[in-house]
Amino acid sequence: MNRVGGPLAGDPDRVALRAWSEGDAGWYAHCAQDPEIQRFTSDPSDLTAEQVRDAIKKLTDLPERDAYLICGLGPGGERLGNLAVDYHGRTAEISYWVSPAARGRGVAAAAIQLLIDTLTAGGRVDWLSLWTHVDNVASRRVAEQCGFARIATADQIRTVKGAQWPTVQYRRSVPGCSSPTAPEPDAGEARVQ
Ligand SMILES: CC(C)(COP(=O)(O)OP(=O)(O)OC[C@H]1O[C@@H](n2cnc3c(N)ncnc32)[C@H](O)[C@@H]1OP(=O)(O)O)[C@@H](O)C(=O)NCCC(=O)NCCS
Repeated sequence: MNRVGGPLAGDPDRVALRAWSEGDAGWYAHCAQDPEIQRFTSDPSDLTAEQVRDAIKKLTDLPERDAYLICGLGPGGERLGNLAVDYHGRTAEISYWVSPAARGRGVAAAAIQLLIDTLTAGGRVDWLSLWTHVDNVASRRVAEQCGFARIATADQIRTVKGAQWPTVQYRRSVPGCSSPTAPEPDAGEARVQ
């Protein structure tokens, strides 16, 4: 378990972030079949548990990427979703999904707030960014709830799963940010999960 959250601003739910383990692979692959995850993330529709297991094993060799299982604090810490971080210099680009069963109770915002607290304490980054499909109203609302602001000049068409996606980008600084000049919007690769 990376960290246990205290009460989170604006949301009564309490979540934790823990490292993915190989035993979570089947659950991830099952969730990835959800139509909304297919519609709005880069996870392929034919993703298998074995592929996820391989990706989880490789995570330890990727210093520029962290990925967390969002889980509950109750007995067993039920699995709720995925929150990933890709580091680009002093910017952390985040991506996420919440399982269909856990939606509608602010899980993504609670997890992102917890991550912001962790990154603030760690001092590794000054900025967080994310991008999303322009039609992804829920994700854009989550970004706003977590203090992200849209970068008006950063709209772009990205190729995701062979399709052209109109996307928008958001960013926010980390509390106590030591680099008040925001980095240039990231052209980034097509990772939205
Ligand atoms: C985006 C996602 C992570 C949000 O999950 P969540 O934490 O359960 O979010 P909630 O359902 O609590 O909703 C968050 C906010 O969005 C709003 N919202 C949710 N669905 C919405 C919709 N279809 N239209 C408009 N607003 C919506 C909620 O009302 C809430 O705002 P409020 O607190 O002001 O009422 C989840 O919907 C998901 O996993 N979607 C598929 C994958 C995805 O899009 N990932 C992000 C890629 S960038």
